[in-house]
Amino acid sequence: MEQSAEGVKRVFLETFGCQMNDNDSERILGFLKNINYTRTSKPTDADLIILNTCSVRDKAEQKVYSALGRFKELKEERPGLILGVAGCVAQQEGKKLLKRAPYLDLVFGPQNIHRLPDLIGEISKKRGRLVAVEQSESIDENEYGLLSAADGRAFVSIMRGCDNFCAYCIVPYTRGREVSRRSADIIGEVSRLAEGGVKEVTLLGQNVNSYGAGGAEVSFPELLRLVARIDGIRRVRFITSHPKDISVGLIRLFGEEPKLARHIHLPVQSGSDRVLKAMGRGYTASHYSSKVRLIKNLHPDISVTTDIIVGFPGETEDEFEETIALLRDLRFDNIFSFMYSPRPLTKAAAFTGHVPADVRSKRLQRLQDAQRCITLERSRELVGRRVEVLLEGASTAPGEREFSGRTSCNRIVRFPYEGVLPDSIVEVVVTEAYPNSLRAEFPPQGK
Ligand code: SAH
Ligand code: SF4
Ligand code: F3S
Repeated sequence: MEQSAEGVKRVFLETFGCQMNDNDSERILGFLKNINYTRTSKPTDADLIILNTCSVRDKAEQKVYSALGRFKELKEERPGLILGVAGCVAQQEGKKLLKRAPYLDLVFGPQNIHRLPDLIGEISKKRGRLVAVEQSESIDENEYGLLSAADGRAFVSIMRGCDNFCAYCIVPYTRGREVSRRSADIIGEVSRLAEGGVKEVTLLGQNVNSYGAGGAEVSFPELLRLVARIDGIRRVRFITSHPKDISVGLIRLFGEEPKLARHIHLPVQSGSDRVLKAMGRGYTASHYSSKVRLIKNLHPDISVTTDIIVGFPGETEDEFEETIALLRDLRFDNIFSFMYSPRPLTKAAAFTGHVPADVRSKRLQRLQDAQRCITLERSRELVGRRVEVLLEGASTAPGEREFSGRTSCNRIVRFPYEGVLPDSIVEVVVTEAYPNSLRAEFPPQGK
């Protein structure tokens, strides 16, 4: 191991799961920076290893255990190394994790990130192995505000937890009750990020449409307006919307607020009313479809993406066909699809009629095959169009310099250009569509 500079320690941090976890990892690094830790990409150089984990599906959880196994040997070689597990598996398993992995020093849940400096202090003083998984009903602002502005884009949590308890989902158990941050604190954080060079901000919550429910100072559309008004912010995104709560007010805002990115992620989960009811989603397939139609009628350029679960307990072949039919009818720009995975604590885990793994896997394949064509067709519709790209990176090879970025509708675009670009947002013309990206021309010729 290389010698650390005086007093500086190194942390190796690996993140699994969703943007919430990416955001939490940023906060973990923020708190660690305050106590003199810098990040390393080599676990063999680290004084502290943290796995920020996800338990949304069994596969995600298993990944964590195999990653932990990898670090066991390192810990045996260097007993001074501190090994910690954060995130949703930490919250779900708590002290059971210490039993399962006797070489583990620390387990801390998503609501205990701000305690990390103290927890590490305690462990360094050899006060034993620690578990911090307490959940509270209010938000302490000291937990936030430590994000860095790495590449012009940032994620900002506007709320935490979830109260929906969809029958398949572990998130309400791992993330606790839904609580919204105060709008002034969110605005403060985005303003600081903008001063540090952030151009695009994504507001994060499990169900952003219920932002402020139960005593809000502002509604979610009002919050979006306030964030869009902040100097330096050029694009505002948000995830995730819940179909039962998305409002006409929000849909209309897309016509009024040019900084709002032209994309809505609206997870449908299934096209069958019986399955939706068993999932406890609070809407029917036709209710969902009418919201998507409203979005597309008012704003034809908005891209709509969704999440789908196949093989929910009791899902019949006909019910699965209803999901395929919904896909073909609504022609999503893209989907994220998953095989149902039973999760501890959830209602659905106790349901009867579990669909065999091979059937789930076949359904997933069929669904993904059907969507692949739709995704490509939707992308091809953009060929010849002018789109705005917020730059994310550039390759450096001379003679083949290529820039990349994202359109407002969240597609990856690449275009060659040898000069210096005038701005961090440029207009290009789409020339070709591939399954996962677009190719474009700059400066735009023609149309
Ligand atoms: N709060 C967001 C999504 C959270 S989890 C929402 O409500 O949309 C992200 C996605 O994982 C879900 O939309 C769902 O499609 C999937 N998911 C959650 N639990 C699952 C499970 N037990 N098995 C398979 N997929 C699951
Ligand atoms: Fe899970 Fe449902 Fe909450 Fe989303 S809304 S996090 S799927 S319980
Ligand atoms: Fe996210 Fe996975 Fe937790 S999806 S909220 S990290 S269970």
